Amino acid sequence: STARITIDRDFTVGEVPRRLFGSFVEHMGRCVYTGIFEPGHPSADERGFRRDVLELVRELGPTIVRYPGGNFVSGYNWEDGVGPVDERPTRIDGAWHTIETNAFGLHEFVEWAREADVEVMEAINLGTRGVDAARALVEYANHPAGTAWSDLRRENGAEDPFDIKVWCLGNELDGPWQIGHKTADEYGRLAQEAGKAMKLVDPSIELVAVGSSGSGMPTFGEWEYTVLGHVYDEVDYLSLHAYYQEHDGDAKSFLATAVDMDYFIESVISTADAVGAKRKSRKRINLSFDEWNVWYQTGLDTPDQPHNVGKQWRKHPRLIEDEYNVTDAVVVGTFLNSLLRHGDRVTIANQAQLVNVIAPIRSEEGGAAWRQSIFWPFARMSQLARGSILRTAVTSDRIDTAKYGDADAVDVSATWDEESGRLALFLANRGLDETADVSVKLGGFAASAITRAEVLTVPEGGDRFSSNTQDAERVGLTPLEGVSVEGSAVTLRLPALSWAVVEVA
Ligand code: AHR
Repeated sequence: STARITIDRDFTVGEVPRRLFGSFVEHMGRCVYTGIFEPGHPSADERGFRRDVLELVRELGPTIVRYPGGNFVSGYNWEDGVGPVDERPTRIDGAWHTIETNAFGLHEFVEWAREADVEVMEAINLGTRGVDAARALVEYANHPAGTAWSDLRRENGAEDPFDIKVWCLGNELDGPWQIGHKTADEYGRLAQEAGKAMKLVDPSIELVAVGSSGSGMPTFGEWEYTVLGHVYDEVDYLSLHAYYQEHDGDAKSFLATAVDMDYFIESVISTADAVGAKRKSRKRINLSFDEWNVWYQTGLDTPDQPHNVGKQWRKHPRLIEDEYNVTDAVVVGTFLNSLLRHGDRVTIANQAQLVNVIAPIRSEEGGAAWRQSIFWPFARMSQLARGSILRTAVTSDRIDTAKYGDADAVDVSATWDEESGRLALFLANRGLDETADVSVKLGGFAASAITRAEVLTVPEGGDRFSSNTQDAERVGLTPLEGVSVEGSAVTLRLPALSWAVVEVA
């Protein structure tokens, strides 16, 4: 296939919101326990943080990490996770049918986040709890000293406030599966009052209201409109969640699912702006896409599926440890493109999750840590998408899909970093069998050199289902040969089913 892309230095979407490269750590399965935290592991530091996992996290480069859930947070008492570890209660976690020891809690996460060089994004429980627990947590975390909650934090070892800026007002409360599931009006009022009380404690915080758990939810649209009707003045962001998978071998549709992500984002922007217009408000609500990824939710009957795990009460059982392949990595690349293209309004996004649970990083108890295929598009985009997001005009051959109609064979996003003088192109070829010849016209750039050209595609001797294991990381980046730059034109050839990054200086 062929694709022509035109970009111009003066045609920008806005600055790259660095929080777009966020991730998510939930008390779920083995994300915390035997993921980021495993006292006794050969690589663990004195606090039990796995250094091998930390190293991979730094290489992946998330900027902000959401914690502690997820469905987990809707039944969680944050107080259980602070204070002397041996005095913390062991509880049942109903969301994941798990025994929670509370050996890891807020202080541990804040310290881990410092080690990993990421910002903390904290979710509060609006499932079983309310205004009082929410404002107490903000006071505990962010108030300097001299009050009961802030002094308790200091007694518990943290002299300085945690200074957590971004707070999620609950999780997926539109979902019937959620502990404390609510109607939009019930949630909207509670979130408004909790948010108000939290900002009275610390006016500098930023608040995320719960949006829909997916664009397929029966309440999608109505939920956003009603909730924002209550919280418009209190909150800064509205959340979106989406998980996608390949169904019945329909790889063409799967590879085009970012079309649905585009639709979802644009629908939520329209709804938020409609509420703003009705209120005659100049304020704009931004979007926090705080759970997104590929997740094989149907068609699997492996022991790590929640319906199989749910029969016994166990500590950190294996849960949804999806093994990602080449196709998944290309799709993840297109999700990141979609998020970046909408970076003027989607200003926070979190891939779910960070380690083991539908994650780019895997680890074994007492054993190795390794990168999944989906690690690579995230790592490179987090590293290189800096400066301004460029608008892209794309004329590409189209691929006909059963689910999403026609989609561009070549998907792209681009950034320009004035400071380093680098232009980065992130490209995906959705064609399963065809290479793609791509020409990029650069307006307003005096490009003279290709400083990076890498591609992720089907490895030698493998196929589109090839994946990585702890013994062999077969799917990764290799040099993309034959990229040329001449004056204002870059030309390149993408292999069939591939994701690539090209950087020009
Ligand atoms: O990320 C896994 C789960 O997916 C989260 O706990 C929940 O918020 C979503 O349904």
